[in-house]
Amino acid sequence: MRFTVVCTGNICRSPMAEIILRRLFERAGIDDVEVTSGGTGDWHLGDAADTRALRILRQHGYDGSSHRARQFDATWFRANDLLLAADSGHVRALQRLAPDAESARKVRLLRSFDPEAVAAGTTDVDDPWYGTAEDFERCFDEVQAACRGVVASVAKQRAAVPASE
Ligand code: 4NP
Repeated sequence: MRFTVVCTGNICRSPMAEIILRRLFERAGIDDVEVTSGGTGDWHLGDAADTRALRILRQHGYDGSSHRARQFDATWFRANDLLLAADSGHVRALQRLAPDAESARKVRLLRSFDPEAVAAGTTDVDDPWYGTAEDFERCFDEVQAACRGVVASVAKQRAAVPASE
């Protein structure tokens, strides 16, 4: 399976989620889910992740230094099973780009996998770009909780379906 996380610049939210998801899948013993990320915009193509994102990742034991920003394009729908949007603006942008209904159904909000976020009705990962270090900490916490939910959801699906099927 292939999952892609999508935000605006692909330098803050989606690289964080990509890096966290990879680690969590590995820890869960799930080795057949490939995770990538991309941005809806092209302003930061080829750039490293934002230094504030790199710092908060490092504080939590993650190395994001090899990340380089890429832009989402419509060919990615076919290549992916699930597109995890950082906020509802990205859901709309992706659904506009989707070539067909099957592609549009692959789009989900990242935080829709966090039951607490869903219960609170706060399912966007807000853009931290103009924010403070504190905003980046909140962003990391939100992304991490959602990523745990994504991995739990895949693990649960796998447990429900015998390997032979
Ligand atoms: P991201 O944050 O979407 O989480 O990577 C942003 C980075 C850059 C911009 C917006 C959001 N920008 O407008 O350049």
